[in-house]
Amino acid sequence: MMQCMLDESIGIDPKVLRNSLGHFATGVTIVTAQTEQGPVGITVNSFASVSLDPALVLWSIDRNGSRYDMFRYAEHYAIHVLRAQQGDLAFKIVKNARDFGDWDLVGGEYGVPIIPQCLAVFECQQTEVYRGGDHDIILGEVKTLRTFEGDGLGFFKGQMMTVKS
Ligand SMILES: Cc1cc2nc3c(=O)[nH]c(=O)nc-3n(C[C@H](O)[C@H](O)[C@H](O)COP(=O)(O)O)c2cc1C
Repeated sequence: MMQCMLDESIGIDPKVLRNSLGHFATGVTIVTAQTEQGPVGITVNSFASVSLDPALVLWSIDRNGSRYDMFRYAEHYAIHVLRAQQGDLAFKIVKNARDFGDWDLVGGEYGVPIIPQCLAVFECQQTEVYRGGDHDIILGEVKTLRTFEGDGLGFFKGQMMTVKS
């Protein structure tokens, strides 16, 4: 058992925090946007639902990351919920925002690049951006959605895994 007491004078070590947050199992998404230099992506597990009516979802982006400007100022973007077989793609995009490997992108309704064969795709319009410490929380309205059958890609304690449907 690992215990970490909150000492307000010292604060929590970000690495310990990241490790502890990893005990919360999530799915894995890739958020894509179109830029003047072409399609870009970022692998994200901070995706969450917010509101059903209006249809709102959120994710958060590292303010200090090299992709911040690409996504902070994107009016439209697409959130792709990955299927079990897309772990390699998730890792490629972690390393390089433009490396979609063999996955041929198609154009969405708002000019946003869409990755084929995902479990779900939500095309969104950015509505608000909130400051949240070293991240920004990007709130978006879902404009289109598609869902498909299949096993999901999960992320738990730093590992990607299959989530059986
Ligand atoms: C499973 C997983 C989930 C991630 N979720 C987020 C996230 O929600 N927000 C974020 O900004 N970065 C997230 N990252 C990190 C980015 O995918 C990417 O590695 C990072 O943006 C690279 O830094 P750079 O933007 O400076 O190149 C995640 C990485 C992994 C492996």
